[in-house]
Amino acid sequence: MQPIPVRLGTRSYLVRALRTIADLSKEFDAKPGRDFALIDSNVDKLHGETLRKALPHAHFFRIASGEKSKSFMSLEKTANALVDAGATRASRLVAIGGGVVGDLTGFLAGVFMRGIPFIQIPTTLLAMVDSSVGGKTAVNLKSGKNLVGVFHQPQAVFVIPEFLQTLPVREVRCGLSEAVKTALIQDASMVGFLEKETYNEERLDTNFLAKVAHQSIRIKAKIVSKDEKEQNIRAFLNFGHTLAHALEALTEYKGLLHGEAVAIGMRFAALLSRRMGYLSLSDETRIQNLLQKYTLPQSFQFLQQKRHGFTRINPTMLTKLIRLMHADKKNDNNAIKYVLLDKVGRARLPQGIEEKELLASLKEFLTLA
Ligand SMILES: NC(=O)c1ccc[n+]([C@@H]2O[C@H](COP(=O)([O-])OP(=O)(O)OC[C@H]3O[C@@H](n4cnc5c(N)ncnc54)[C@H](O)[C@@H]3O)[C@@H](O)[C@H]2O)c1
Repeated sequence: MQPIPVRLGTRSYLVRALRTIADLSKEFDAKPGRDFALIDSNVDKLHGETLRKALPHAHFFRIASGEKSKSFMSLEKTANALVDAGATRASRLVAIGGGVVGDLTGFLAGVFMRGIPFIQIPTTLLAMVDSSVGGKTAVNLKSGKNLVGVFHQPQAVFVIPEFLQTLPVREVRCGLSEAVKTALIQDASMVGFLEKETYNEERLDTNFLAKVAHQSIRIKAKIVSKDEKEQNIRAFLNFGHTLAHALEALTEYKGLLHGEAVAIGMRFAALLSRRMGYLSLSDETRIQNLLQKYTLPQSFQFLQQKRHGFTRINPTMLTKLIRLMHADKKNDNNAIKYVLLDKVGRARLPQGIEEKELLASLKEFLTLA
């Protein structure tokens, strides 16, 4: 993969692919006492030894895996540990993990000693295709996801497909979900690529996944370079996320994974786009088929599967979902803002949707298998 630039003036950086984890050793000048690596606990178990060999100068801190770590409690605990270990304004953080560790580390780097640099080493497909690029960082509040955070760009992002060899298939699907999103909002040719490639999820094809990551990063880097602070087109990346965030809050961030919630949210946003008269029925069907091809959930039925331990979504819960959508930070003037599609590969800027229409669309969505 050719390095992909994120162009933000003096804060520009490159997203670079490395062949192996061991190659990281060539990328860091081993200044003693400078680098503090925050590593996901599962990643530590699987790759900690190799990483410590590649980055012998870094001080490692384990972050418990799971969304719970994206919290003020974990932020405070880690900040205290950094101080105890001698971190200063001259230190640098290194995020090694998925979106959870990336978002937490980025936020901590943004506020620790009023801001220190950090590097992203994403280890999930979702973090490679999406969360490690663009400088959005945050922790969750009880009242909603990502409600407190800062824009803080990394100094560099290293994408190492080797990490994907140990990624559970459900997590691979979540990364594909964000990749599908990126294609749908901005790039019909990437949609075509995702439709054409033969895909068998049982054969973990890291070459294919690396290609998917490369295309997604290229698109995201372009969007972020044009609109870092989400004044306009960066909002496209929230496609599917309004319902997704509400579903995650409804299920209390337990069981339902972010990428799964986004897939359900995209299917709903496609239905809404069609009902609003923007998206053709044939494009809606293409989206449905694409989600199906990559084994992504696309209805509330998924929430009812026993193995995920969710409650059934019934008509009376729809108003609760709408309330949760209202709490989403991207809404203003009381209108629930939605990113919709004009067609496959082209999104529309967010627009307020009347509650009556939203409820009617959710009722139709509830009937989907
Ligand atoms: N900042 C952004 O722009 C942005 C964009 C999208 C999503 N996000 C955030 O990202 C988070 C989701 O990220 P995620 O899906 O990466 O979840 P995650 O960080 O929770 O990782 C998923 C699981 O995979 C495990 N894991 C990580 N790397 C592994 C590897 N190589 N092998 C085996 N297991 C591994 C983790 O321990 C965890 O159990 C959410 O909090 C979401 O809000 C942020």
